[in-house]
Amino acid sequence: MKAHEESALLAIKNGRGVYLYDYEGKSYLDSISSWWTNLFGHANPFINQAIINQLGEVEHVMLAGMTHRPVVELSERLSVLTGHHLGRAFYGSDGASAVEIALKMSFHYWRNLGFPNKSKFVCLQNSYHGETLGALGVTDIPLFSDTYSPLIQRPILCKSPVPLNDSVSLEAASQLAIEDLKTTFEAHHHQIACFILEPMIQCAAGMQMYSASYLKAARALCSQYEVLMIADEIAVGFGRTGKFFACEHAGIWPDLMTLSKGLTGGYLPLSVVLSTESIYQAFYKDDVRLGFLHSHSYTGNPLACTAALATLDLFDQSKGLELVNHLTAQLFKAFEWVKADSRLSNLRQLGSILAFDVTVNELPLNFSKKFDILAKSHGLLIRPIVHSIYVMPPYIISESEIEFLSQTIQMCLNEILGDLS
Ligand SMILES: Cc1ncc(COP(=O)(O)O)c(C=O)c1O
Repeated sequence: MKAHEESALLAIKNGRGVYLYDYEGKSYLDSISSWWTNLFGHANPFINQAIINQLGEVEHVMLAGMTHRPVVELSERLSVLTGHHLGRAFYGSDGASAVEIALKMSFHYWRNLGFPNKSKFVCLQNSYHGETLGALGVTDIPLFSDTYSPLIQRPILCKSPVPLNDSVSLEAASQLAIEDLKTTFEAHHHQIACFILEPMIQCAAGMQMYSASYLKAARALCSQYEVLMIADEIAVGFGRTGKFFACEHAGIWPDLMTLSKGLTGGYLPLSVVLSTESIYQAFYKDDVRLGFLHSHSYTGNPLACTAALATLDLFDQSKGLELVNHLTAQLFKAFEWVKADSRLSNLRQLGSILAFDVTVNELPLNFSKKFDILAKSHGLLIRPIVHSIYVMPPYIISESEIEFLSQTIQMCLNEILGDLS
């Protein structure tokens, strides 16, 4: 709160498309889709109307002994989107609750199968999976997790497939990480319940991208060593990377997939864990203790499921993946100047996510905060992660808005670092 008081909070009154507006009517281009949630713009008339229609039916009903049309329809559509590989759905509210569900489910799955010692979780260095206690246990960002370490079950950490620096190729980093995962599984697979990872991009670590070859090999190793694979697609699902699910870059399906954020187009908190039929069957027992007893009051909320259905409709109507591919090309072009700027390095992009690093000898103190505040004064909402500047805009951003985004970033860099010329 002290940090917030030092830089006045921005109070938002309303939003439309890629813009948010404060109480004076000043506009802010939301280049990070309100923490990576928004896909089709703020106050989208189509999603608004769908929610209004659902409000006239029912706002909420518990998902215990009851069900409702939006949740059934959404589950079936998500199953279709995974080619029915992940045909079972378990709902939560935020992303972290989906991660909790997936972790608990992995452990309980093996226990039901007669392997109670498979209780360890494997995750990657620099991973981020949320901030509840279970999720923090598989999050390797010390700023978030260190304080709570006495409360957390420590995971087995494996090498990240992200190259450590520019001199290491994606494939070389991938190979090293595959070997590390293999060694870990070989030594500990009797104790390991699951391996959780962020497919293709470690977003919270600064939009760090890696090769699909790692995902493919990780899938094979999980099968070989009988470890459940959890793909956390909370940040990268719903077309963000140019494929509907990031796992599709490697042509694989995990055993469990967590989804949230873009699931409701950035409207309402909803998350879901999709799983295979064999996981579902492991809980399909007469003894209730073998069932998966986990509930949240607002699980599968009808309004949130309706927002999700409307988002999927928009995706279909606007040929979502084509829209993202178009955006991908426009972003690529608009940020070409980064390559020629000696203060910047490691320009990277996958689909609608583009990032680069500021690599000056002495990064100004509190660079990301300074950048954030300055950008806001120029009408741009952006939050660099330490020295990585990234954009992840809503899919409906126009070419001229991308131009504004790119030019404003360049202007802010010049103001903070000093003009190149
Ligand atoms: C990959 C990933 N998993 C989980 C989460 C946690 O989601 P939530 O903030 O909704 O709890 C996030 C949030 O950024 C994320 O990026």
